[in-house]
Amino acid sequence: MPTLGVNIDHIATIRQARRGTDPDPIAAAMIAELAGADGITVHLREDRRHIQERDLRLLRQTIHTRLNLEMAATPEMVAIALDVKPDYITLVPERREEVTTEGGLNVKAQGDRLGKFVNQLQGAGIPVSLFVDAEPEQLQASAKTGAKFVELHTGTYANAKNEEELKHELEVLTNGGKLAIQLGLRLNSGHGLTYWNTRAVAQIAGMEELNIGHSIISRAVLVGLDRAIREMKTLIST
Ligand code: PXP
Repeated sequence: MPTLGVNIDHIATIRQARRGTDPDPIAAAMIAELAGADGITVHLREDRRHIQERDLRLLRQTIHTRLNLEMAATPEMVAIALDVKPDYITLVPERREEVTTEGGLNVKAQGDRLGKFVNQLQGAGIPVSLFVDAEPEQLQASAKTGAKFVELHTGTYANAKNEEELKHELEVLTNGGKLAIQLGLRLNSGHGLTYWNTRAVAQIAGMEELNIGHSIISRAVLVGLDRAIREMKTLIST
């Protein structure tokens, strides 16, 4: 069974809404670890819309599990990564106008460029994962870069509109996983996974880690709201 990497970007998104200090993603990471998370995942975006460099550096000093840094393949991000040294790096495509990561890297078209970043990072002892769609051409190109891992993009599966589509997309992921392993790649998955669609992905042969953020933080807000309101009522009325 795969391990769970908890993506805490959305904690930072709430903090950035007020540009203040609460809620602190460092505290969230500690709670996640106490609850059994096997790793903490953060995406340091070029526009710094949620996670800040301060968060990344403090997480590096404080967490007990694995720190997975998601980042764009740019010289600026590579310099930060080489300095902070996360346990592994997931290279993702990044466009400023997107709401979240939309689709996997086009490794087929950018293999040489990405391969240079992979070499540099892995040469410094940081294993690299490439976030890709489960397409044979992308997986073959990923293996050629020398990256140790791929993270299969599960967003299309998560957006399936009916049982038939869901079944088809699960097959695409299963076949992609099989090919990745045949190519010598280690296997992670993530994006859009929820309490309803994750189990089937967890059961794909060879799956090592699932990176999940939005669904966990959404549930935390709703299951925690009742207690938070009761605590404020008590504070006001005593
Ligand atoms: N994996 C990657 C590469 C991502 O970019 C994201 C979103 O930041 C996730 C996993 C987590 O996705 P979600 O928040 O939809 O669970």
